[in-house]
Amino acid sequence: MKALIPIVFLLSTPVLADDQQRIEQSRHLAMELQQQLSSELMAAMKAQGLVHAISVCNERAPDIAEGLSKSNNAVVGRTALRVRNPNNAPMGEQKAVMDYFQARMAKDPNTVPEVLFTASNGEQHYMRAIPMQPQCAACHGSNITPDVRNAIAQKYPNDQATGFEVGDLRGSFLIRWLEE
Ligand code: HEC
Repeated sequence: MKALIPIVFLLSTPVLADDQQRIEQSRHLAMELQQQLSSELMAAMKAQGLVHAISVCNERAPDIAEGLSKSNNAVVGRTALRVRNPNNAPMGEQKAVMDYFQARMAKDPNTVPEVLFTASNGEQHYMRAIPMQPQCAACHGSNITPDVRNAIAQKYPNDQATGFEVGDLRGSFLIRWLEE
């Protein structure tokens, strides 16, 4: 396990116990999203191959995120600077956080930065970087086979999410906590 670096925006204010609890809750939820996505992805790839797994990502990724959102009174998802699905594009401060993650990881490739901050609409948002890994290369790397490339192009004609190298910032988990 790589060490996570908790960073709370506005470092001039001390980390409150409530914030610490929120960070832990957020990590847990992000982990759950990651686990559910990867177990479905692996199962699909094993059973029917990569092209089929793209449909699973396309249909199941939003469903899994929605299920976790409902059961946690939050909006859970993923974003990136270069997106495959335009619905995942960063909004508001998210873009600035992604730029910060990019700069942080360029300086220190072994960190997985995360932040908890209060967004301009007053909601608490949590983001954690998702580094590119070897098992993502078939769909997000530089040498994508023609059949996979075609399958992606059919569903995502404006795909920007290829050409990543292992260790690059692929994207970020995103949790918007809703008020009780
Ligand atoms: C079988 C192909 C496939 C593999 C393997 C794969 N992805 Fe994806 N990825 C997709 C598809 C398709 C989407 C779009 C899902 C959607 O419509 O929400 C996506 C979306 C994403 C997003 C959301 C942002 C965006 O671009 O829309 C992130 C972040 C992401 N993938 C990271 C990863 C990581 C990290 C791995 C490896 C652990 C990985 N992916 C492996 C196909 C794949």
